[in-house]
Amino acid sequence: MSSSATSPSRLLERLNASSAPYVDPLAELRWESVDTDAWWLPPAALSLAGVAEFEALPLASRRRLSHYEFAYLLEAGLWLEAMFIERLGGALDREPDPERRRYYLHEIREEAGHSLMFLELLGRAGVRIPAAAHPRSALGTAVGRLIPFSSALFWTITVVGEELGDRLNRMIPRGVEEVTVSAVVYHMARLHARDEARHIAHTRAVCAEAVRGLPRWRLAALSPLVAAVLAQHARRLYYPPRALYAAAGLPAGVDWRRRAHANPTRRVFAEQAAALTAEFLRSIGWRL
Ligand SMILES: [Fe+2]
Ligand SMILES: [Fe+2]
Repeated sequence: MSSSATSPSRLLERLNASSAPYVDPLAELRWESVDTDAWWLPPAALSLAGVAEFEALPLASRRRLSHYEFAYLLEAGLWLEAMFIERLGGALDREPDPERRRYYLHEIREEAGHSLMFLELLGRAGVRIPAAAHPRSALGTAVGRLIPFSSALFWTITVVGEELGDRLNRMIPRGVEEVTVSAVVYHMARLHARDEARHIAHTRAVCAEAVRGLPRWRLAALSPLVAAVLAQHARRLYYPPRALYAAAGLPAGVDWRRRAHANPTRRVFAEQAAALTAEFLRSIGWRL
């Protein structure tokens, strides 16, 4: 859904039209079939994919890591969606353009639907991410809450947040041919990716417009910060903390986080995922 050739108001009209027939994930998904006897993330999408010590573990242990790494992605989603809902909600009353206002409400409804389905899955499956293994960062929360809503930086950070999560989520539909991925998780991932395509189209368009309005010296001054945010978020999202491997029950005595960092399969995925967003950010003027 490219927006470069579409005027902002035409894009909003189109997005509003496709968001109007709302699908409620809580009503849509077959929650009674939530299972932990299947993969949640496909094996190739795990941070330890291909690592010899990990691949030698029993199937049940490897699958369990897929539940925890998917839950980690969902916790990141819950964190970022809560902030985004807050910022969109705060802007509603000040927004004079009814079409834009309508779009914010669609996004709030859709993000609320995503967060509700994440909570439903985690609650039903009994998968809990302990505080020490949570992807949330206090600095990220402060930045997300404080930078001005209409700024180029806010929308750039939103692009990063939406796109990096979406790239991992999209590994799920791609992985189903090789292994049995849980049907509920598969449908969640499809539903989320479909909504996210619209959100990303909107965010990219608003971001490009905001960056166009920046003077050259601001672009130069802020570009290193944008590069740091992109690198930091990719690191946070694609390389879970040690506590996550412990929570998933992987044997102690191996530094799993280090293994993930040294894992070439993961590095290729993480670099390519970040490179696609970097390419877009460069195309709109950031110097990365
Ligand atoms: Fe979402
Ligand atoms: Fe979104």
